Amino acid sequence: MTPPTAEHRLLARVEELIGRDLLEVEAIFDRELAHPHPFVRDLLAHIGRFRGKRLRPILLLLSAQAVGEIGHEHRVLSAVVEMIHTATLVHDDVLDDADVRRHVPTVNTRWNAETSVMLGDYLFTHAFHLAAGLGDARACRLIGAATNNVCVGELIQIRERGNFALTEDDYLRIIEGKTAELCGLCGDTGARYAGADEEVCEALREYGRSLGIAFQIADDLLDLLGDEGSAGKTLGSDLDKQKLTLPLIRLLDRAPEPDAARLRALLASSGALTRRDLLAELERSDALHYAQQRAREFAQQARFALNALPESPARRLLEDLTEFAIQRQF
Ligand code: IPE
Ligand code: IPE
Ligand code: MG
Ligand code: MG
Repeated sequence: MTPPTAEHRLLARVEELIGRDLLEVEAIFDRELAHPHPFVRDLLAHIGRFRGKRLRPILLLLSAQAVGEIGHEHRVLSAVVEMIHTATLVHDDVLDDADVRRHVPTVNTRWNAETSVMLGDYLFTHAFHLAAGLGDARACRLIGAATNNVCVGELIQIRERGNFALTEDDYLRIIEGKTAELCGLCGDTGARYAGADEEVCEALREYGRSLGIAFQIADDLLDLLGDEGSAGKTLGSDLDKQKLTLPLIRLLDRAPEPDAARLRALLASSGALTRRDLLAELERSDALHYAQQRAREFAQQARFALNALPESPARRLLEDLTEFAIQRQF
């Protein structure tokens, strides 16, 4: 038998602390979305065939446990954030022309883009329908504000496609919207609905945001370097769609002008640069190391934010999740 990896050990600790809550989150998720129409049923069965990592529910539940007790509201909110996240993925796969997600064909490949658009909307509207059932307008406003920012991040990213002068700050603004917002929301609402005071809610929001940034930088490295089989999703789409991510921004920024101009020209002409070509360029530079280092810095910032919390197994797990976020292979 192979010895358990660090990842397995981490997941076993998640299971031990919040495994039962996660099962309830899944039940709420399925109950909310269920519909008797055979086509809707097929679509839901398809997206349910493989669960994701459930990172956002895990962040929300552990944030609650780190400051108090997990209650029904937390389990509902966890289902809400996972639904919003799933909606963004279903839409994102249309934007990225992706074929595989969570080891199965994307909805746009198995059916078509129209179906993805409406299924994404079905998920978004159910998320707000479910949240509204809590009878607390504050929850809906917080979730609404975060989701708006996710959309803005995705919109800016679309607008900036093909902009090879994108700076690191521009890039960070995009990922703060599309990824960090929802993770920040998980920290904040997890704490808020466990009765934490404003300062602690803010610290956990900051934790989630920094972790989200680190996670997306790692994802962008995965898009360039990862293996599709283990990632379970289409990779290389950032390159195909001319979306500049941190390693490329660094590469272009540091390359002497003739090289940078040659690279920009290659990036601009679709298909001229494969992942393998680019990898050789990246390896000759400090770009990969730099992006990994930046991810580590944001992971460190996330851990720092946890200083506002008392010691507990949930806090330790939140700390260790920052390492998971930057070491990801899937
Ligand atoms: C994918 O999110 C989109 C990014 C923000 C990088 P996850 O990697 O959390 O996706 P699942 O839910 O585990 O499939
Ligand atoms: C999209 O980022 C993340 C969202 C928040 C929708 P990516 O396009 O990098 O996500 P993956 O790599 O397809 O999962
Ligand atoms: Mg994508
Ligand atoms: Mg990606």
